[in-house]
Amino acid sequence: MARLRVAIAHGPDDAPPRPARAPRRKTDVEEITLVLRRAGHRTLSVVVDGAPTCLKRLASVDADLIFNLVEGFGDDNTKEPHVAAYYDLLGLRYTGSGLRGLSLAMDKALTKKVLAFHRVKTPKFATVFRGRLDWAHDIDFPVIVKPVREDGSIGIGFSALAGSIKELMERIDQLHADFNHPVLIEQYIDGREIYVGVIGNARAEAFPPVELDLSHLPKGTPRIASNEVKWQEGTRAYRGSKVRIPHDLPQDVAKTIQQAALTAFQALQLRDYARFDFRITPDNKVYLIEANPNPYLYSGAEFIKGARASGRTHPETILEIVELAQARYRLRG
Ligand SMILES: Nc1ncnc2c1ncn2[C@@H]1O[C@H](COP(=O)(O)OP(=O)(O)O)[C@@H](O)[C@H]1O
Ligand SMILES: [Mg+2]
Repeated sequence: MARLRVAIAHGPDDAPPRPARAPRRKTDVEEITLVLRRAGHRTLSVVVDGAPTCLKRLASVDADLIFNLVEGFGDDNTKEPHVAAYYDLLGLRYTGSGLRGLSLAMDKALTKKVLAFHRVKTPKFATVFRGRLDWAHDIDFPVIVKPVREDGSIGIGFSALAGSIKELMERIDQLHADFNHPVLIEQYIDGREIYVGVIGNARAEAFPPVELDLSHLPKGTPRIASNEVKWQEGTRAYRGSKVRIPHDLPQDVAKTIQQAALTAFQALQLRDYARFDFRITPDNKVYLIEANPNPYLYSGAEFIKGARASGRTHPETILEIVELAQARYRLRG
């Protein structure tokens, strides 16, 4: 691979914290920087924090490729696609999905509508915005109620699960107060939580499925990857969360999940890499819950666990993403 100058663009939260006395684990940005440098590339870091200065900095950045880890603009996560659109306007090449894929996958309701056309099963749903109904299936309780355009389980606490009209109405009210976009009410799928990574473009490949084991959650707590599970370090829910390779998943079920991930990858016009979240019922019905373009690339992340199960190391996976992006632009000429 030719020696490149790679700008790693990331949000302010990913910036390395000030040196602490206690040893700390490397951030995804630090890990990726190290991988790229070891492979002989030159790197620089660009913090995209929502301030006008970061737009100026991007406009004058001197790089062959942007390694895009940006997930929003300022504190607005719905502006992730806008940042990619800005790269396009500047003529910058970047890793991962473009404006179209990021916009499609960001809207969970739109994603479900597109996937229905491609016969990828997703839970039944309704969407409502301040009293205006967009669409409603006939859904039974319990339901899960979430913001239509957020990520990282933002707005999905354990209370996202509603078992009655009262809980549903309270929850819709809360989400309308917290977020300025529609609320998605979805059939709750009781079952296993499975993630599948996809890498590639014309010849995309699905990694073996990985499972988030939620069995440690206290009795009476919904078995969901809520924000408590994902973010609250130190809580029992977080500490006990374990991602592993589910060796007991029947082969044909694993195949169905991987095929659904590949179909979704293409249908949603994603590029280079992505991760798909699934729930699998006890009788092995497969439901796609969500598409994640540009998933977390930290060495312990779910996507990387799947990559390892496919025979790739973490550095190989990072360098493959760079190569895939480069190849796309080479093809375009
Ligand atoms: N319909 C559903 N049935 C069961 N669990 C769900 C459903 N929707 C979401 N969840 C749970 O909530 C978690 C977060 O939901 P998701 O839609 O993936 O949001 P985010 O974009 O924040 O990751 C999922 O990983 C899953 O555990
Ligand atoms: Mg998710």
